[in-house]
Amino acid sequence: MKGVTVIAHPLVQHNLTRLRDKATQPQEFRRVLGEIAALMLYEATRSFAVRRTSVQTPLEPARGFRLEREVVLVPVLRAGLGMLDSILQLIPNARVGFIGLKREETTLRAQFYHKSLPKNLSRFEVILIDPMLATGGSAVAALNLLAEQGAKHMRFVNLVAAPEGIRRVRRDYPRLPIFTAAIDRQLNRKGFILPGLGDAGDRLFGT
Ligand code: PRP
Repeated sequence: MKGVTVIAHPLVQHNLTRLRDKATQPQEFRRVLGEIAALMLYEATRSFAVRRTSVQTPLEPARGFRLEREVVLVPVLRAGLGMLDSILQLIPNARVGFIGLKREETTLRAQFYHKSLPKNLSRFEVILIDPMLATGGSAVAALNLLAEQGAKHMRFVNLVAAPEGIRRVRRDYPRLPIFTAAIDRQLNRKGFILPGLGDAGDRLFGT
């Protein structure tokens, strides 16, 4: 699908399969989700804008690059938290915003219960993080909030996406870069991704 990068790296796919396995317990699920998030981040940040710069090595000047913009990581609570720590280890100076969204079980509508974001997001690279893209309601609500706060350079890192969710996000954000480890077959009647990996938040936190 256009604008969607499926990260086919063997380590990503190996770890995704561990996460899909219902025998994988919360402790292991947390560890593997962290590992896969770090691997995915390399791909997701590949197109970050850089600016030329120069530094003095101990021997002579050297040309180099620095990131054009600071980074804001925005995990969607709860499941996005499972990807945050390992990404922060790779971008330790990133700022972190939080968006709490809960999908109501019958209507599948996403409801906000928490918002805490840095002010004026226009000058940042904003990375929205949520392992699951199902109907797309949560992602669109989060992206709308980020856009309202001025975000201009957004990308979405997601582990498993349903085609329905991608289409929903694409409708409102046709140019948003989406990075995922898998585009699964479909949603079931309850809005769960098939084959998916179950409820990522529940599996992370053992609820
Ligand atoms: C899950 C998941 C996404 C959302 C995806 O979260 O982590 O945030 O649902 O569904 P959607 O694309 O249909 O909106 P949930 O609302 O279950 O909250 P949780 O992370 O606290 O479990």
